[in-house]
Amino acid sequence: MTQLVDTFGRVARDLRVSVTDRCNLRCTYCMPAEGLPWMPKDEMLTDEELLRLVGVFVGLGVRQVRLTGGEPLLRRTIVDVVAGITALTPRPQVAMTTNGIGLARLAQPLAEAGLDRVNVSLDTIDPEVFRRLTRRDRLDDVEKGLAAAAEAGLTPVKVNAVAMRGVNDHVVADVLGWCLDRGYELRFIEQMPLDAQHGWDRTEMISAQELRERLSERYTLTPLPDRERGSAPAERFLVDGGPATVGIIASVSEPFCGSCDRTRLTADGQVRNCLFSHRETDLRGPLRDGASDEELAGLIRGEMWRKARGHGIGEPDFVQPDRPMSSIGG
Ligand code: GTP
Ligand code: 5AD
Ligand code: SF4
Repeated sequence: MTQLVDTFGRVARDLRVSVTDRCNLRCTYCMPAEGLPWMPKDEMLTDEELLRLVGVFVGLGVRQVRLTGGEPLLRRTIVDVVAGITALTPRPQVAMTTNGIGLARLAQPLAEAGLDRVNVSLDTIDPEVFRRLTRRDRLDDVEKGLAAAAEAGLTPVKVNAVAMRGVNDHVVADVLGWCLDRGYELRFIEQMPLDAQHGWDRTEMISAQELRERLSERYTLTPLPDRERGSAPAERFLVDGGPATVGIIASVSEPFCGSCDRTRLTADGQVRNCLFSHRETDLRGPLRDGASDEELAGLIRGEMWRKARGHGIGEPDFVQPDRPMSSIGG
């Protein structure tokens, strides 16, 4: 089987798998308070189906798998899923992006199943702001989850913080200090137009430029050389000469689509070639109808061949995808 290439010569080696669209938080920038119409169970891939498809992606050259959600720890069989992926040949690196609730209990079993590392989403360290933003009073659980991840060796433990005006933009240096004290690698993220409510407004977005300025008021940031970045979304900086770093993910103001190496699989078995894609290729139907690995690989290759040059945010004809972030997996 050949690799996953597109017409711009990019090769996908990183697969992001959404294992559920459900979440136990209700972040205002992601979902309404009442949640969303969740995927019906019978439309979701079973563990066996999911592992078979990940195996086909690995056969197509995928070398890193990231499990996402919704909240991936809500999938009851998540430890088995990790064990199944790390048993593939060649064994891909396996990472997870989680809100951290549940890690206090699961970090150790996940590490034993072969999970390599975690990124934990945490936008604020102020319990009151956390409660307003996520509509749940669970900051303590997230902090315990982070500590458990570090203890279990799921390192480097990264913290993702979406920058929001009037919510956390004035305390970005405090959040960095908090992460530095605990040995977590913080990355700030520019907010993207992916909320279920379609309420994103570019003029409200905290840009990478603004973040660099704010952080520089307290810390000296030295950019790491470009060659160390590869296809990673984050531009990283040494903090006060290092070795600790802080990252900025400037998806909107400084897009990194030119070096994108990602492909995505949704919990209902659709392959997506981009976060912002308006099309998907169904793998679940053919899989359930008895398609061979070669046939599934052909469908995946076909989807990736159609990948657009970039997301086009800011262009006059840009339209946000229908599928919300919580169901694509970020
Ligand atoms: P690392 O391998 O640790 O660098 O993980 P990551 O940054 O690729 O993944 P993570 O799930 O932590 O995502 C952090 C942020 O980057 C989220 O806001 C993602 O939506 C965003 N992101 C990840 N991949 C892409 C991508 O392909 N395009 C864009 N625009 N954003 C992405
Ligand atoms: N823009 C950027 N990042 C987002 N995330 C969730 N919604 C958005 C958005 N609209 C982040 C989460 C998580 C990661 C997968 O994406 O906080 O850390
Ligand atoms: Fe890749 Fe699409 Fe993300 Fe750009 S927006 S980096 S093309 S997934």
